[in-house]
Parts: sequence; C-alpha cells; structure tokens
Amino acid sequence: MKTSSVTVRFADKKDMERIIEIERSWVHLSHWSVDAYRRLLNESSLTVSLVAESDGFDPGARQSGRIVGFVIFHATESTAEIYNIAVERGHARLGVGSALMRSVIDLSLDNGARKVTLEVRKSNTGAIGFYQAFGFAITGERRRYYSNPVEDAFLMERDL
Ligand SMILES: CC(C)(COP(=O)(O)OP(=O)(O)OC[C@H]1O[C@@H](n2cnc3c(N)ncnc32)[C@H](O)[C@@H]1OP(=O)(O)O)[C@@H](O)C(=O)NCCC(=O)NCCS
Repeated sequence: MKTSSVTVRFADKKDMERIIEIERSWVHLSHWSVDAYRRLLNESSLTVSLVAESDGFDPGARQSGRIVGFVIFHATESTAEIYNIAVERGHARLGVGSALMRSVIDLSLDNGARKVTLEVRKSNTGAIGFYQAFGFAITGERRRYYSNPVEDAFLMERDL
C-alpha cells in the first residue's frame, strides 16, 4: 500500500493559514470561519490541534515538513470529541488521516477518556467509511445539524 510518511505534532498559531487551506481544498464541505479557527488554535485548555507534516518521502509533498493534514478535538477526562479532521485533497487515502486519528486516540487515552465522539454529515460517505475503518459506530442522528447546506448529522462513537 502506498503511504505517506508523516510526523504528527501540536499545531502552532502560524499553522492556521495552512490548516484553512487544507480545509478549503474540500470544496463540497461547509467551511469554518477564520475567526473560528483562530479561537480554537488560541484556546489553550481543552481544545487540542494537531498537524501532520510530511517527512518528505512522498514526492507529492514537494518539500519535507509540509503540513498535509490536521485534526482539532476537544478532550475532557471522560470523552474526546473530534471537531474537524481533514487531509489535503491530493494526499487523501495515503494513511495521513489514520496517523492523525491514532494520535487523537493515544492522547485521549493519556487524558483518561473512555470514548471518542464526532458528528458527520450524512452525505459524507468517505469520512463515514474512514471512521468505520477505525471502529466508530453510528449511535444517533442530529436533525438539521449543519447549515450551508442544511443537512442532518450522524453521531458516531468509538469506545477506547
Ligand atoms: C476523512 C479523511 C480525513 C480520511 O483521511 P485519509 O488520509 O484519506 O484516510 P486514510 O488514508 O488514513 O484511510 C484509512 C482507511 O479509512 C477508510 N477510508 C478512508 N477514506 C475513505 C473513503 N473515501 N471511503 C471509504 N473508506 C475510506 C479506508 O478503510 C482506509 O484504508 P485503505 O485506504 O487501506 O482502504 C479525508 O478523506 C478527508 O480529509 N476528507 C475531507 C474532510 C472531511 O470530510 N472530514 C471529516 C469531517 S466530519
């Protein structure tokens, strides 16, 4: 299997522009505002932001150290909630999302969390497939959870 070699590290304020660029590379998704990202990246306590940097073995990454994915999640002592995860479109299906998800799980376990939860658009079959590959199950629905366009969400959970 072709995989992208990445290092996952905590995000820095200076990574915000790149994080937004990656999120915007998925045109069909509803996008967060720059202010929302700024708030989350500056929030020190319970919100954790991680980025995946290419180690340079993937020719598509063009340069070593280029950020090719990110995840933002909320970590309490009982539950971790994934707010957003995205991999640069050109790097999808190369294992970058898996590296980020493994880090979420490891950090959540370290924090004492017993489960990871998230919401996902019902139409986002790619992301649902990704979460299912990680053992997440659909445990509920949230009516009209998303705007722009309005859509229901599936609630998904995975025990740790
Ligand atoms: C969802 C996302 C983060 C997955 O990241 P990724 O780096 O492509 O995922 P990986 O390469 O680590 O995939 C791991 C496994 O998940 C499953 N998977 C990943 N993408 C999938 C897809 N589009 N359809 C079905 N299964 C998928 C597969 O089992 C895959 O293993 P395989 O490639 O050996 O078959 C990425 O597709 C993405 O950024 N999507 C757009 C943003 C988004 O929708 N985020 C979710 C918001 S709720």
